[in-house]
Amino acid sequence: MRSIAVINQKGGVGKTTTTANLAAALATEGLKVLAIDFDPQSHLTINLGAAPRSEDGGIYGVMTDALPIDEAMLKVRKNLWLLPSHIDLAAAETELVSVVGREVILRDAIEAMRQKIDYVLIDCPPSLGILTINALSAVKEVFIPLQPHFLALQGLGRLLDDTIRLVAKRINPDLSVTAVVLTMYEGGTRLANEVVDDVKAFLEASRGTDCPWASARVFDAVIRRNVKLAEAPSHGLSIFDYAPRCNGALDYARLAAEVLGKVESAQPAAAKTAAKGAPTDKTIKMSDVVATPATPPSDVANIV
Ligand SMILES: Nc1ncnc2c1ncn2[C@@H]1O[C@H](COP(=O)(O)OP(=O)(O)OP(=O)(O)O)[C@@H](O)[C@H]1O
Ligand SMILES: [Mg+2]
Repeated sequence: MRSIAVINQKGGVGKTTTTANLAAALATEGLKVLAIDFDPQSHLTINLGAAPRSEDGGIYGVMTDALPIDEAMLKVRKNLWLLPSHIDLAAAETELVSVVGREVILRDAIEAMRQKIDYVLIDCPPSLGILTINALSAVKEVFIPLQPHFLALQGLGRLLDDTIRLVAKRINPDLSVTAVVLTMYEGGTRLANEVVDDVKAFLEASRGTDCPWASARVFDAVIRRNVKLAEAPSHGLSIFDYAPRCNGALDYARLAAEVLGKVESAQPAAAKTAAKGAPTDKTIKMSDVVATPATPPSDVANIV
């Protein structure tokens, strides 16, 4: 079983869109996929065509009431199960405050699925609290959707250095960042090229170290901005059901192929342009962002 947290504490970067469409693509390949909606906003639940219902138990029941996952999950497609969310989940943060071992509730619950499921994908909320820590404690891999613009670098630095490093050190030594997924990509813009170059340079610089992102890379498959990806959720459909020939479907199919190791390099033209981006007068580098504690201390240190 491969277990992956799709995480970035920055809001609106494509976490849910990536989780939903990657899950759908993997399920189409015949793999048994469990998609976990770990966000009280319930967007993944809605994206996959289910209604957020308190009485279903869902992930809230798993986290607060020891509900077994196979009783809490819904089958939403062939080979695809959803552990749905509901706004109730927002209360879990406070309800779990005095629970011993609250950081590893999800890890223990997922263990029961090991023989039944090939892929677990967790759509994390845009915050760094107990839910996110549970996700990072439960998985081996992290995918980080990143919309390439200036502030994205600061957020990424904080996520890697404060959160992922801490959870890996204190709770889950098996945790590693597999890759950054470039989302809402607008090829050819100078800023996008600069950010991508900086992310790649930063990841290269961490090779051979013992940090959890030492072997992370930027996926060759980039997700271009495509309005069909924004439309599909309102129909409760994946991009493959809603508009199978659009760029969004093509990009997520390429991403799935890369995740499955089916392509050596599926690098589309836009990403090639980015990778080759001409050197420019950059004002910020990933190494600056991570090395300098310019961001306030994360809450995570208080929790784990
Ligand atoms: N490649 C894309 N092109 C166009 N629109 C996109 C793309 N990816 C996502 N969107 C849209 O952008 C918005 C934010 O995407 P999404 O909900 O996946 O982000 P998120 O990181 O999960 O947000 P949150 O932090 O609130 O959970 C949504 O309306 C989504 O439909
Ligand atoms: Mg989301």
